[in-house]
Amino acid sequence: MLDSKGFDLWANDYDKSVGISDEEKTYPFAGYKDILNAIFCRILSSSAKKVLDIGFGTGTLSSKLYENGCMIFGQDFSENMIEAAQKKMPDAKLFCGDFSKGLLKPLTEQKYDAIVATYSLHHLTDEQKEIFIKSLVPLLNDGGSIYIGDVAFSSRTELEKCRNIAGEEWDEDEIYFVFDEIKKAFPKMRFEQFSACAGLLSLEK
Ligand SMILES: C[S@@+](CC[C@H](N)C(=O)[O-])C[C@H]1O[C@@H](n2cnc3c(N)ncnc32)[C@H](O)[C@@H]1O
Repeated sequence: MLDSKGFDLWANDYDKSVGISDEEKTYPFAGYKDILNAIFCRILSSSAKKVLDIGFGTGTLSSKLYENGCMIFGQDFSENMIEAAQKKMPDAKLFCGDFSKGLLKPLTEQKYDAIVATYSLHHLTDEQKEIFIKSLVPLLNDGGSIYIGDVAFSSRTELEKCRNIAGEEWDEDEIYFVFDEIKKAFPKMRFEQFSACAGLLSLEK
């Protein structure tokens, strides 16, 4: 599992390496742009203004929302990722902190119209994911939504199919969402598959 220093080293090449995997339609980033684009369109069409981005990386998604008038708040634990994102979004409130220990106080004191987490929460165990997502719901304004775009599958059978195709490329350190397992904790959660390995989980308050 990459720690904050590992992500620091990846920060410079991150956008390029994600783009290559997405364009080649290979695990793990096949469908990446489509998912980010779907989240972007849904947030803008809902007229959301305040957006929290968890594990924002270089700010690929949130900087587009920022350019379209959203106020961006975020938490990431890589200083280099934060530096890259802050350059794109000078007025965004970006904080350094490990989300496996929860969100930092300045972020839990706010309410948001949308909360996004793309390709970040697979660093939590399934139990941690459930606790963490439950802690996000009270931070949403009424009618707000949580959008989680990630390597994600409708069932464990689908995950195993992808693991077989990915072979040695499969990252054993990452713990991917399996919708029919997590929906037991979130009956209102919805799931859309965007590629053989990418899925969007959404939860409206
Ligand atoms: C694969 S990148 C995804 C970045 C961006 N959301 C995107 O869609 O391109 C994962 C990001 O999550 C951050 N991250 C991973 N685990 C974290 C943790 N426990 N606490 C805070 N940030 C974390 C990393 O630093 C990195 O910026």
